[in-house]
Amino acid sequence: MTATNRLPVVVLISGRGSNLQALIDGQLNGELAIDIRAVISNKPDAPGLERARRAGIATEVCDHRGYATRADYDALLRERVAHYNPGLVVLAGFMRILTPVFVEPFLGRLINIHPSLLPDFRGLDTHRRALEAGVTEHGCSVHFVTPELDAGPVIVHARVPVHPDDDETSLEQRVQAAEHQAYPQAVQWLADARVRLQDGQLFIDGEPGTTPPQLDTALSG
Ligand code: GRF
Repeated sequence: MTATNRLPVVVLISGRGSNLQALIDGQLNGELAIDIRAVISNKPDAPGLERARRAGIATEVCDHRGYATRADYDALLRERVAHYNPGLVVLAGFMRILTPVFVEPFLGRLINIHPSLLPDFRGLDTHRRALEAGVTEHGCSVHFVTPELDAGPVIVHARVPVHPDDDETSLEQRVQAAEHQAYPQAVQWLADARVRLQDGQLFIDGEPGTTPPQLDTALSG
């Protein structure tokens, strides 16, 4: 596959970068038709930056500290991301709420992974809240990012069981294993132009997508 028919991608991170790693692996083993042009972190010490460097991917730090407003920071971030001319911007554990200053220019080309079956458990501490709620099924969602937090159309749900003896750590590990399958899958659908956002709605293979596609994640453990 030549670089010209691969989807140019910029990945934004804040931390560990295990989802980034799943995308890097998919690119390197040829399963994903993407070209990760840059990895940008708002945290200078994010371990995910080292994963990118090891793969020979350009890295940048856009430290959020020192900006008067969120919008000021988002304007800088928008400029740095746009510099790489991405067809897709992937939030992979990017722990900042983004304003329309960033979201609007990339609408339809901006996706996130969230550790719950949206619309359940928007926001933080999803695994703890899922356990407290006593749900028997949990998982993750890849979704288009829109100005409302964790509310954009879901591209794929990956479900995992919740076991009676689960704690936050065991549940998080099971969900993360699902994330590492769901994110590459969604990214490839975008690279194949099979899913798109139009008028705030998900379209799959040209048809309005009413229920989110499910990733078959009969994950155990
Ligand atoms: C993941 O759990 C993801 O769902 C959430 O942030 C976490 C990032 O993990 N948005 P990693 O940095 O990809 O390992």
